[in-house]
Amino acid sequence: MKTSEVLLNIRRSFKLTQEEMANKLMVTRQAVSRWENGDTVPSTDTLKIISMIFNVSINHLLGQYNNDICHYCGAPIDKIKSGVHSEIFKGEAMKNILVTGGAGFIGSNFIQYMLTSKIHNNIINLDALTYAGNLENLSTVKDSPKYTFVKGNICDGKLLDEIFTKYDIDIVVNFAAESHVDRSIIEPDIFVKSNVIGTHVLLEIAKKHWKKKPEDKYDREYKSGVKFIQISTDEVYGTLSYTGLFTEETPLAPNSPYSASKASADMFVRSYHETFGMPVNITRCSNNYGPYQFPEKLIPLMINNCINNKPLPVYGVGAQVRDWLYVEDHCTAIYAVMMNGISGEIYNIGGNNEMKNIDVVKFLISELGKTDNLIQYVKDRPGHDMRYAIDNNKITSELDWSPAYTFKQGMKKTIDWYLTNSEWMNRVITGEYEHYYSKMY
Ligand code: NAD
Ligand code: TYD
Repeated sequence: MKTSEVLLNIRRSFKLTQEEMANKLMVTRQAVSRWENGDTVPSTDTLKIISMIFNVSINHLLGQYNNDICHYCGAPIDKIKSGVHSEIFKGEAMKNILVTGGAGFIGSNFIQYMLTSKIHNNIINLDALTYAGNLENLSTVKDSPKYTFVKGNICDGKLLDEIFTKYDIDIVVNFAAESHVDRSIIEPDIFVKSNVIGTHVLLEIAKKHWKKKPEDKYDREYKSGVKFIQISTDEVYGTLSYTGLFTEETPLAPNSPYSASKASADMFVRSYHETFGMPVNITRCSNNYGPYQFPEKLIPLMINNCINNKPLPVYGVGAQVRDWLYVEDHCTAIYAVMMNGISGEIYNIGGNNEMKNIDVVKFLISELGKTDNLIQYVKDRPGHDMRYAIDNNKITSELDWSPAYTFKQGMKKTIDWYLTNSEWMNRVITGEYEHYYSKMY
C-alpha cells in the first residue's frame, strides 16, 4: 500500500481537513519521511508511531478495519501469531485481553466499549457471577467472535493458568472485586479473599506466563506488549475535609474494609512492578454512575426508589461529597492507560464534578418529577468518608484524556437507560437483593 493511500485512509476515517492532517503529521514527520523515502512496506516502527499518535490499531491505518484480513497475506488477523506479521500484530493490533469482573457494572461497560469501538482485541471475561455479576449486561456482545466468557474466580490459580495458556493473554484488566462499602462493613472477609488474595493470585499467574525466565528471580524481562492494569479507587486515599484534592502522591489511608482491601491489592501490584519488573498500571477513579449499575449504590438505588415512590434513604444529613464520573468516561480513561500509560505509573481518574449526596438525590427527584417528601434521613454509615475529590491533572496532561460527559448529560443517559430497562431492574432486585435491602435499611 502506498503512503498516499494510507494517509487518505487516515484522513477519511478521522474526518480531518487537510490542515488538521498536516498538523497531525508534523509530529509524525520523521516516521512518515522514512516511509516516503523508499520503504515499500512501512516499517513496524513507523506503523507503531503513527498508530500511537492517532490512537488506533495498525490495521485501521491500513484500512483493514472492516474485514480483519491481513493486508499483506490475506490471512485472518486472529490466526496471525508468527512470521513477518507477528511483531506488528502482536505489538499493536490484536491483543488478548483478560477482563476480570466483566459481568459487573464497569467491567460490562468496558467490554461493550472495547468490542464496539476498539475492534482489534479478543476479550476473555472471567467472572465468578456473584450477586453483582449479571451476564444480561453483556447480551449485546455475547455472540461476538472476539468475546469469550469463562465462569470462575480470580482466586483459582489453576483456572487462571489454563486461561493464560489457552488464550495467550497479553493484558489483564482487573475489575473483579467486592465493590460495596456497606457490604464490607457487614462481611469484610470476602473483601480480603476476592480483592486482596484474588489480585495476588492473578499477579502470580501473569508473572509466570509473561516473564521470559520465570524461574530466575533476578530476571526482569517480560514478553513484549504485556501489561497488568489494576482498577482501583480513589477511596484508598481515605477522606478529605472541605478543601484539597487527591493526587497520585497522596498517602494511602483507607477507612473502610472495602478501601483497605483495594489499597492492599494496589500495594501488591506495586510490589510486582518494583520487585519483579512486571509492567503494570494502577488507576484510581472516583464514583461512577451509568447503565448496568447494581441498585445497592447511591444513584441506581435512588432512581429505582423514586420510580417506585419508595423512601430515599439518605445517610446522616447527606452532607458527604463525592466526585461523579459517567462510566463511559471511565472506560475511555482505562483505554488511554492501557495504550499509553507508562509502566509502573498510577493514574487518578475523576470528573471534576463534586456534589453533596443530598444534592444528587434532589437532582434525581426533580428529573423524575417527584418531591422531597420521599427523602428519609437514616442513621449514618460507620466510618463514613466525608469527601472524595480528584486531581486528574496527570491523566489529562500526560495521556490527553478528559471526560466527555457533563453530570447533566451523563445523568440524562443514565435515567433514560433505567427507565427503558425496567425489566433488567426488576430481575436484579429480586432474590438476594431483597434480602440485602431488608437487612440494610
Ligand atoms: P461490581 O460489584 O458491579 O462488579 C464486580 C464484578 O466482579 C461482578 O461481576 C462480580 O461477579 C465479579 N467478581 C467479584 N469477585 C470476584 C472474584 N473473586 N472472581 C471473579 N469475579 C469476581 O463492581 P463495579 O462497580 O463494576 O467495580 C469494578 C471495579 O472498579 C472494582 O474493582 C471497584 O473497586 C472499582 N471501582 C469502582 C467504582 C464505582 O464507582 N463503582 C469506582 C472506582 C473503582
Ligand atoms: P455509594 O454509591 O455506596 O458509593 P461509595 O460509598 O463508594 O462512595 O455511596 C455514595 C454516597 O452515598 C456515600 O456517601 C454514601 C451515600 N449513600 C446514602 O446516603 N444512601 C444510600 O442508600 C447509599 C447506598 C449511599
